[in-house]
Amino acid sequence: MRKLAAGNWKMNGNAAALSEVTALLSAHPDPTCEMLLCPPATLIAQMNWAARNSALRIGGQDCHAKAAGAHTGDISAAMLKDAGATYVILGHSERRADHGESDEEVRTKAEAALDAGLIAIVCVGETELQRDAGQTLAVVGAQLKASVPDAVTAENVVIAYEPVWAIGTGRTPTLDEIAEVHAFLRAELAARIGDQATGVRLLYGGSVKPSNAAEIFALANVDGALVGGASLKAADFGAIVAALSA
Ligand code: 13P
Repeated sequence: MRKLAAGNWKMNGNAAALSEVTALLSAHPDPTCEMLLCPPATLIAQMNWAARNSALRIGGQDCHAKAAGAHTGDISAAMLKDAGATYVILGHSERRADHGESDEEVRTKAEAALDAGLIAIVCVGETELQRDAGQTLAVVGAQLKASVPDAVTAENVVIAYEPVWAIGTGRTPTLDEIAEVHAFLRAELAARIGDQATGVRLLYGGSVKPSNAAEIFALANVDGALVGGASLKAADFGAIVAALSA
């Protein structure tokens, strides 16, 4: 399986920030891991151009469940693909919180992404209250079950475990806690799709940075990272790519 270093720029970056892409590609032209950046939709086409003929893949951060229609302000999976995306992040906790996205909606969007030929990165993760209440596995298990389409394969879906309380906070779960959730996600997928589950990439996300990347990537069942803040700077994201390629 090829590991995946994915960066989520969230609502950050303008055309000038594309210089980070040039810097990243000159420092890491041919990493062993797969390298992905998901910029705001306004930058997808330009970033795709900046990354032409390179190892960098481009992704969206959300899509609509329908292919086209009267949905002002929304973007379909086919449109992302047309702009140069090959991946789309779905069900990020910020979208679940800011836009009230349910598991059902996330699954419908993921189905649309697969129909359009995109790889769906489906996010799951517990809040701090849920972790403190001992509900972590129940919460991520329910999200996984209801958000991931039945057509899931090792090729068309990636799962990102992002504890909500670790996002943008500088705090991370212990290595044992990350390993426990990833082993659980692998087992749940195996119960659903059998042997295929061994090839589904499971990313950890939440305050991944150059200083903690290597120890997280050394864990069993961690097949890469979904990186927020540290993906905005080529030097930081490049160091994470290097740790995953080691
Ligand atoms: P940070 O890496 O900034 O904590 O964000 C993680 C995240 O939400 C990636 O999708």
